[in-house]
Amino acid sequence: MIKVEGLTKRYARTIAVDNISFAVEKGQIVGFLGPNGAGKTTTMRVLTCFLPPSAGKVTVAGFDVLESPMEVKKRIGYLPETPPLYPEMEVVEYLDFVGRLKGIEARNLRRRIGEVMERCAVADVQNKIISKLSKGYRQRVGLAQAILHNPDVLILDEPTSGLDPQQIIHTRELIHSLAGDHTIILSTHILSEVEHSCERVIIISSGRLVAIDSVDNLTNRLRGSEAVAVELDSADGRPNPGEVQQRLEQIAGVSRVLMKDSKNGRLLFEVESLQGRQIRPDLARTVVNSGWSLNEMRSVGLSLEDIFLQLTASEQRDEQRKQQREKEVVKVGADQ
Ligand SMILES: Nc1ncnc2c1ncn2[C@@H]1O[C@H](COP(=O)(O)OP(=O)(O)O)[C@@H](O)[C@H]1O
Ligand SMILES: [Mg+2]
Repeated sequence: MIKVEGLTKRYARTIAVDNISFAVEKGQIVGFLGPNGAGKTTTMRVLTCFLPPSAGKVTVAGFDVLESPMEVKKRIGYLPETPPLYPEMEVVEYLDFVGRLKGIEARNLRRRIGEVMERCAVADVQNKIISKLSKGYRQRVGLAQAILHNPDVLILDEPTSGLDPQQIIHTRELIHSLAGDHTIILSTHILSEVEHSCERVIIISSGRLVAIDSVDNLTNRLRGSEAVAVELDSADGRPNPGEVQQRLEQIAGVSRVLMKDSKNGRLLFEVESLQGRQIRPDLARTVVNSGWSLNEMRSVGLSLEDIFLQLTASEQRDEQRKQQREKEVVKVGADQ
């Protein structure tokens, strides 16, 4: 249903999306996961014909976003990060306006508006002014406008962000109920969100594709990795940070060692394990055998960022390459 091949999107100075490829089959719910600035919104804007790609090919139901934008738009419903609402309009008035814009025939429009208002649970506020609605209701009005022309594909940009827990549950249920009829891509920067809502997940970070997998496979891959915070006393200037870093990195099962802080005679490190490896006993042993004094050792949760790094061992190398390329782009820009 959706095919993205080698998509790149450059802004003046940044490469927001860097040569990513993926495909989404009909009827799937796919989560587009990545931290802020990863390139999710940019990709979605290209898919919905709001932005032209800098390179690569994107098709929706076989239609190219550059060659046949009208055909693509007919088949796509889009809920941007901020729903495109007119705050001074009543809900039903707004949906009528959107319906005309989308070219829905007048004789079908009223019935269709009734249907989507039921479906999105906004019928009870149909004559309310949009600016007076709660954020949850506004988001559902946004969804109602996205599905109004009954598109095959729904593109939802962070549909649950900023909602309270009750509203999040409501919105998730609504998205699920839409899944049978539509192919859905939803973006989020929250890992648990894809676990709740999606069958497959596409992970991007710094504009690059990090993983495409089923949610089950992904959580299995990540399960068992842990991060341990280790604090050492270095009041007399010993041990020195470089030495500690090096020794900790040599422990079997350690995937990464980060120095977090070195203040007031304390050294704080965060040590991550490979999947399924118990590193605490060896960590403790190494510290003690080295004659260092251990202030504290405790578990810390792996953040989304950490998970990206786990999934891409070559991340840092790639980042350097990307920065190099950005410099080249700027240079080429300046030459022109
Ligand atoms: N209109 C723009 N002009 C220049 N840079 C932009 C623009 N929109 C986004 N960016 C940059 O592109 C990158 C990706 O942004 P975005 O697609 O919004 O990421 P996400 O939605 O994952 O948070 C970021 O570095 C962001 O600063
Ligand atoms: Mg975004």
